[in-house]
Amino acid sequence: MELFYATRDGQSRRIAERIAAGLAVQGIRVLPQDLAIVSPGLPSLAAVETGQAAGRTSPAAAQLVVLVAAVRYGLPLPEAEQFLARYRKLSKPPQLVLLSVNLTARKPGKDTAQGNVYLRKSIARHRLDPVFALAIAGRLDYARYGFWDRQLIRFIMRLTGGPTDPATSIEYTPWPVVDEVALRIAALHGRIAAPAGPNESTAALNFDSVDPGQLSRAKKIIGMTAMWRGGTR
Ligand SMILES: Cc1cc2nc3c(=O)[nH]c(=O)nc-3n(C[C@H](O)[C@H](O)[C@H](O)COP(=O)(O)O)c2cc1C
Repeated sequence: MELFYATRDGQSRRIAERIAAGLAVQGIRVLPQDLAIVSPGLPSLAAVETGQAAGRTSPAAAQLVVLVAAVRYGLPLPEAEQFLARYRKLSKPPQLVLLSVNLTARKPGKDTAQGNVYLRKSIARHRLDPVFALAIAGRLDYARYGFWDRQLIRFIMRLTGGPTDPATSIEYTPWPVVDEVALRIAALHGRIAAPAGPNESTAALNFDSVDPGQLSRAKKIIGMTAMWRGGTR
């Protein structure tokens, strides 16, 4: 498995790291990679296809790619766009988990592949068929933005009923949902590593396949780690 992220203000990196922590609890080690650093020489994506990427221990490990990409000005960041364009050209693409980080996703119903305009358009634009796609609410932190960006975001917030006070700093990210996403990715990874038998269908890839006891233990460990690191503030 490969886990990539595209970020400017750090929230998508935090989400990718939280997913990696959740996967680690499930015994799956994966290092989140910043596309702004790895994308200039993205042989890594081609290598994903052939299972030759660095540190790969089994071909199954290369069959799933997770992308956590922030949205700015209505589009995923350029390195994520470039990544998806390249992904689309692979002859045997690994399965894709696509996670879009934006502020629109803070609203009910705007976190799904159908309900979130950025996710829906990304999937259509690149003609993707992700095994799982979700929009995750990011962070609003006016003090971080330059003058014009701040005015633009305040204007959009005024239109969409969000906070416009320039002192606002709110983390909208639903961390329990991110933890569940990590469990879902772990289940997908497990299915890929041990392919389904003839009577099992990929439709069974859902939270039902996760043992509830295991889920609650994993959540506790992740929550404790995050509190210690200040990740839930
Ligand atoms: C300049 C700028 C443009 C943004 N454009 C959008 C947008 O078009 N739609 C949206 O829902 N959120 C938008 N956002 C909110 C970001 O997606 C959100 O802050 C996210 O947490 C950023 O992720 P990052 O910290 O990984 O960079 C924008 C934020 C900034 C600073």
